[in-house]
Amino acid sequence: MLCLGIESSCDETAMAVVEDGTLLGQVLSSQSDVHALFGGVVPELASREHNRFIGVLFDELLEKLGITPDSIDVVGVSRGPGLLGSLLTGVAFGKAVALGAGARFLGVDHLKAHLLVAGLEQEIAYPALGLLVSGGHTQIYRMDSPWAFTLLGQSLDDAAGEVFDKVGALLGLAYPCGKQFDALATSGRGDASFFPRPYLKNDNLDFSFSGLKTAASQFIEAHQNDATSNGKIEDFCASFNISVVETLRVKVQRALDLHGDLQSLVLAGGVAANSLLRKTMGELMQQRGGRLFVPSPELCTDNGAMIAFATWILSAHGFYHDLDMPTIPRGTPVPCDMAIRGNREHLA
Ligand code: KG4
Ligand code: ZN
Repeated sequence: MLCLGIESSCDETAMAVVEDGTLLGQVLSSQSDVHALFGGVVPELASREHNRFIGVLFDELLEKLGITPDSIDVVGVSRGPGLLGSLLTGVAFGKAVALGAGARFLGVDHLKAHLLVAGLEQEIAYPALGLLVSGGHTQIYRMDSPWAFTLLGQSLDDAAGEVFDKVGALLGLAYPCGKQFDALATSGRGDASFFPRPYLKNDNLDFSFSGLKTAASQFIEAHQNDATSNGKIEDFCASFNISVVETLRVKVQRALDLHGDLQSLVLAGGVAANSLLRKTMGELMQQRGGRLFVPSPELCTDNGAMIAFATWILSAHGFYHDLDMPTIPRGTPVPCDMAIRGNREHLA
């Protein structure tokens, strides 16, 4: 089954083809240099850039793979959450390709696709706990199968990626700042007691990173000169990184203790590229005798392969959408409204 996946929820226009679970090829056009000028994503510019590149990328991918549209069995597209204008570009394009090629169509939840793509490189052992850490979301899921996810906790304010981006901007790093933050942190000496671990004195699985962001911002303001001019920026990043990662670790550990039947942890989203986070979660699962599933760093940030892979795994189990499927903007939960063909016994 040949599945095309289209991603355009934020500032990456990306497409990929997955055939029976194997990635055949992918293309990606990042707009980060456009938005870096403004210190964050400008929605109108994002949709214009998607509109400019989506057709070009489609032609490039098909040419690279030597395939024609009529060989595509399923067109999958990121349907939300995300910037509505950006999502609509991809959804409208995907529906048109499906209609023209006579292919089936599927709208994919962008957040779940981040988690599912770990299965592209190594089959995920279900049930699993899923930690999704991206620029817009920090969430913990119970994943009973590729389609049965239960949200257990989430950030009440800023997402983990957002704090790296906002604090990084105050340090003068270019947007998005996470990767550069990580590189600076890796060469610095972190002080684990320097920043607080926010929102742990409770018994829930939610997060709150805004206080940590404020603490870091106030420190940068008060120490503007020493933080940026005498080589201490690496140490600052290392200490901040420890605080974010440790906070995530404590909540993941709590979730695993509460859901004692889960032996797998799936780590996903752009922040899952963070070296300390990958190492810490690997050690946690090793101590518990469980397994960590985490995509290669280039599959953690937004990409087409995650949409194509989610499309394949869901289509293989019979799920699809009709072409009147609505697009879901940020702030609105993505509904579980997929139709299913064939028998449903495997879903029980
Ligand atoms: O998943 P993603 O590509 O887009 C969203 O769906 O939000 O995540 C982007 C986020 C940005 O906030 C970026 O700064 C962060 O992931 N990020 C990182 C790293 N690489 C990307 N954060 C920490 N360490 C990294 N190595
Ligand atoms: Zn994403």
